[in-house]
Amino acid sequence: MPDDIYWHAAKVSREMRERLAGHRGLCLWLTGMSGAGKSTLANAVEYRLYEMGVRTYLLDGDNIRHGLSRDLGFSERDRAENVRRVAEVARLFVDAGVVVLTALISPYRADREAARALFAPGRFIEVYVRCPLPVCEQRDPKGLYKKARAGLIPNFTGISAPYEPPAHPELVVDTAAWDIGKCVDVVVADLVRRLALA
Ligand code: PPS
Repeated sequence: MPDDIYWHAAKVSREMRERLAGHRGLCLWLTGMSGAGKSTLANAVEYRLYEMGVRTYLLDGDNIRHGLSRDLGFSERDRAENVRRVAEVARLFVDAGVVVLTALISPYRADREAARALFAPGRFIEVYVRCPLPVCEQRDPKGLYKKARAGLIPNFTGISAPYEPPAHPELVVDTAAWDIGKCVDVVVADLVRRLALA
C-alpha cells in the first residue's frame, strides 16, 4: 500500500450495525460447477432468510459479470480477479451487518482460500454445492455444456478447465441426491445458529 493512502476509522462500527439489524453479518460462499444449482439455492435461501427478517444481499456470478467484472473472461487469472473483487465486496457487506450470499463457480481452491482470509474467523461459510459433472451436463440449463463439448466455449469448467472441490467446506449440499427443500433446510439450519449476536 503506498505511503500516502490512509485508513479512516468509522464512528459507527460493525457491532453497532449488527445490533441494529439484530443479527450478525456473515458471508455464505457458494461454490460449485455450472448447473450444480448455486443460483437456485442462493435465491431460495435468501428468500427464506428474508421471511425471517434477516438483512441479506445476493452476489450472483452471472450478474456480477454484467457490471463489476464485465471486463473479465474465464482464464485462471481473470477468475482469480473475479473472486477477489466479489470477496472484497462481500467483506464490505459483512461489515455493514448484512448476510451476503455469493454464487460463483470459484473453481480454484487457492482463490477461495484467499477470499476466506479476508474475513474474521466464523464469518466466511463455504458451501460446496456438489453435483456430479454428468448430472450438470444433463441439466445444461443454458446449453453451455453442449457448446463447450462442441469446442465453442474455451476454458469451460469441468470440460476444458478444472474444478477443485473444497477440502474443508463448512457445508456440503448434494443437489443431485436431495431436493431443493432439503438443501435449503440444511443451509438455513446451519445459518440460524451462526446468526445470533453474542
Ligand atoms: S468464476 O469461475 O467464479 O469466475 O465464474 P462465474 O463468475 O461464477 O461465472 C460463471 C457463469 O459464466 C457462464 N460461463 C462460464 N462458466 C464456466 N466456464 C466458462 N468458460 C464460462 N463461460 C461462460 C456460465 O453461465 C456460468 O454460470 P453458472 O451459473 O455457474 O452456470
